[in-house]
Amino acid sequence: MTDTLTVLGLESSCDDTAAAVVRDQTGEMPEILASTVYGQTDLHAAFGGVVPEIAARAHAEKIDFCVRQAMDQANVSFDQIDAIAVTAGPGLIGGVLSGVMCAKGLSAATGKPLVGVNHLAGHALTPRLTDQTAFPYLMLLVSGGHCQFLIAHGPEQFTRLGGTIDDAPGEAFDKTARLLGLPQPGGPSVEQAAKSGDPKRWRLPRPLLDRAGCDMSFSGLKTAILRARDEVVAAKGGLTEKDRCDLAASFQAAVTDVLAEKTRRALALYLAEDPATPTIAVAGGVAANQTIRARLEQVCADHDTDFTAPPLALCTDNAAMIAYAGIERFRLGHTDDMTLAARPRWPLDKTAPALLGSGKKGAKA
Ligand code: KG4
Ligand code: ZN
Repeated sequence: MTDTLTVLGLESSCDDTAAAVVRDQTGEMPEILASTVYGQTDLHAAFGGVVPEIAARAHAEKIDFCVRQAMDQANVSFDQIDAIAVTAGPGLIGGVLSGVMCAKGLSAATGKPLVGVNHLAGHALTPRLTDQTAFPYLMLLVSGGHCQFLIAHGPEQFTRLGGTIDDAPGEAFDKTARLLGLPQPGGPSVEQAAKSGDPKRWRLPRPLLDRAGCDMSFSGLKTAILRARDEVVAAKGGLTEKDRCDLAASFQAAVTDVLAEKTRRALALYLAEDPATPTIAVAGGVAANQTIRARLEQVCADHDTDFTAPPLALCTDNAAMIAYAGIERFRLGHTDDMTLAARPRWPLDKTAPALLGSGKKGAKA
């Protein structure tokens, strides 16, 4: 195997069709030669969530085009590609299949090795793509469909310390935005409204803080926001701008408190392993939230631990992370053949028990 690897990555597990080309040379910063992402927000807007059939069809229509565009932008031919990496799960099965079938076709036609990648590993290895973060590091993966703490020991070695037992925080942000009449995606609009709100006006629940460990729950928070909103509406006949901002701020404060406290606990478990260069990394759309980021940074500062957060384009779904995770697998000598299956579920830590009800939305990570 040559020291320099150039890998094409494909991603289609939820509502983003993406392709990317990443080059990696041992000891150097990996280089993203091209990364294209086609979101499907408009296609699903009328339905209040991702419709799996619509997503699958859109992926199948777009993926070839995405690959061609990434190859053109990277200015490479298939002769210069060492392997084809593709998200093989977890995710919406129709979408995952679109990517896997495309990658198999490309692999068969070009003779290049096929590497199936776990989408969650793509997120979890992103700090190595962006900052060459050394193993082991603690990862908080917090997005629209997932919320979990992992210790990353190696490219395929993860220990899950805990996670949500129901909804992911991004889902709760989106629902809160709907309840308050704010635009989707809910994260940025709730964050914006919260800036001028009073986070103490409502003392919303901080679920599972009384339970030991790092598991979390966010579905009760959505119900609490619904009740608080309905009380105001019943009393005044509607929400004022101030009510909206106060509700948004109170909600965000509750999520932030839960994530900060659970991060503190996860950190204690991680630091007990005495890592050489203690680091916490975050990934996923919710990691874009400035209030949450600032609190997590504070937790790290309190414990002499480095904090790293990839740029937003690499926090949210993309194929550069899949190409890079493919490179790490390929360097271990792991490839797949035409029997590579698309998997709706695929936990990173196979030894950890399933989290109750987790990943209801399932596909997003
Ligand atoms: O990682 P992502 O793009 O998609 C997956 O879920 O895979 O994350 C999207 C989620 C959405 O629920 C969105 O509302 C949330 O991340 N989000 C945020 C912010 N920006 C995006 N949540 C809180 N604050 C933000 N600034
Ligand atoms: Zn994801």
